[in-house]
Amino acid sequence: DPKSPIAVDPFQTVAKEMKFLTENIRQLLGSGHPTLDTVAKYYTQSEGKYVRPMLVLLMSRATALTPKRCRQNNIQKAESMDQPISPSDILSDENPSAPGYSPLTSIANDAAYGREDSEILPSQRRLAEITELIHTASLLHDDVIDHSQARRSAPSANIAFGNKMAVLAGDFLLGRASVALARLRDPEVTELLATVIANLVEGEFMQLKNTARDEQNPLWTEDTVTYYLQKTYLKSASLISKSCRAAALLGQSKPEVVEAAYAYGKNLGLAFQLVDDMLDYTVSGEELGKPAGADLELGLATAPLLFAWKDNKDLGALVGRKFSKKGDVQKARELVAQSSGLEQTRALAQEYVSKAIEAISAFPESDAKNGLIEMCTKVMKRRK
Ligand code: FPP
Ligand code: MG
Ligand code: MG
Repeated sequence: DPKSPIAVDPFQTVAKEMKFLTENIRQLLGSGHPTLDTVAKYYTQSEGKYVRPMLVLLMSRATALTPKRCRQNNIQKAESMDQPISPSDILSDENPSAPGYSPLTSIANDAAYGREDSEILPSQRRLAEITELIHTASLLHDDVIDHSQARRSAPSANIAFGNKMAVLAGDFLLGRASVALARLRDPEVTELLATVIANLVEGEFMQLKNTARDEQNPLWTEDTVTYYLQKTYLKSASLISKSCRAAALLGQSKPEVVEAAYAYGKNLGLAFQLVDDMLDYTVSGEELGKPAGADLELGLATAPLLFAWKDNKDLGALVGRKFSKKGDVQKARELVAQSSGLEQTRALAQEYVSKAIEAISAFPESDAKNGLIEMCTKVMKRRK
C-alpha cells in the first residue's frame, strides 16, 4: 500500500537478535538426560511465530529512546545491567546425572550478547527468550489438557512423546525460565513473570470451570463477555503485557513509559486472542497448522459464539452442556455463521489494536515504534 506510512518489516528491526533466539533457547534447555533434552527442545524445532520475543525486542528498542527514570538507589543494579549476561552464566551447574556433560561447553554465541551496535540490553534479550520459554511451557501443558494432535504442522509433544513426558518437559522449561529470570537480578521483573505463570494457570482454570455459567441452561448477561475477557487476559494477554512492561523496566524507563508499554501489550494481547478465537472458526486446519474448529469440540464458547448467543438465546442450552450432544457442534457452527459473531469479534479486536497503538503514541518516532504498530496490523491480518 503506497499510502501506508509504515514500510517497515517488524522482523527486520530486530532480525539480528531474532537470529540467535532459538539457539539461545536451546542452550537454556540443555539437559544431561538425552530424552528430556529431546522432549524439552521439541517445539524449538518447528518454526513458531515468536510473537512474544519479537514484541519484547521491539519494545526494548522503542523504549530505549524514551526518558529514563532516576536511578536513586539503583546504582548497583544499573551497573550490573550494563554487564553483558553471558549465556554461560545462566547454567553454571553441571547435571550430576550425566558425567562429563556440561551445557556450558557448547555455548558459542557470546557474540550475540555483545553490546557494540545495539541499544537492546543483554537482559532484555534474555527476557525475550524467557517469554518464549514460558509460552512454550504453556503449550506443552495445553496440548495435554486439550488432547491436541498437532502443533506447528507436526504431531504435538503429547502425541510424539506421551502425556507424562510432555508435562514434565513443560515443568522443566518453567524451571529453566525461572533460573534465567532469577539471574536477571531484578526483583520487580521476577515478580512480574512469576505472576504471569500463575495467571496462565488461572486463565486455564477459568476456561476449564466456568463458574459464571455452569448451570444447565445459562442466561446470557453482560458478565458473560466480562468473564471471557478476564479469562482471555489471564490466558493470553498477561504474558504479552507483563513482558512488555518488564522490557521497559529493564531499560530503566520512566513510570509513564512502563505503563504505556504495559497498556500496549495488554490491548495487543487481548486482540491477539480474539483473532485466535475467530480463526478457529474461519480458517482450515491445514492453514492453521493445528486442527481448526477445536474450541467447540473442547466445549469452549469463545467470543464469536458468545456474540451469536446474545442474539440467539437458543445457544444457551448448547453452551450449558458444552456442545456435548450429537449435532451440537455442527448446530453451533451454523448459528455462529448466520450471526454477526465473527464480525463483532473482529471489531472488538480492532478496538483493542487501536488502543494498543494509542498507548505508545507518545513514544519518539523510530523503526521499532513502527514495528510495534505494524505488529498490530499483522495481528489483524494473520491467518495462523
Ligand atoms: C493455548 O491456548 C494455551 C495458552 C495460551 C495457555 C495455557 C495455559 C496452561 C495450560 C496453564 C499451565 C501453563 C503453565 C506455563 C504453568 P489454546 O488451547 O486456546 O490454543 P491452541 O489452539 O494453540 O492450543
Ligand atoms: Mg490448545
Ligand atoms: Mg487450551
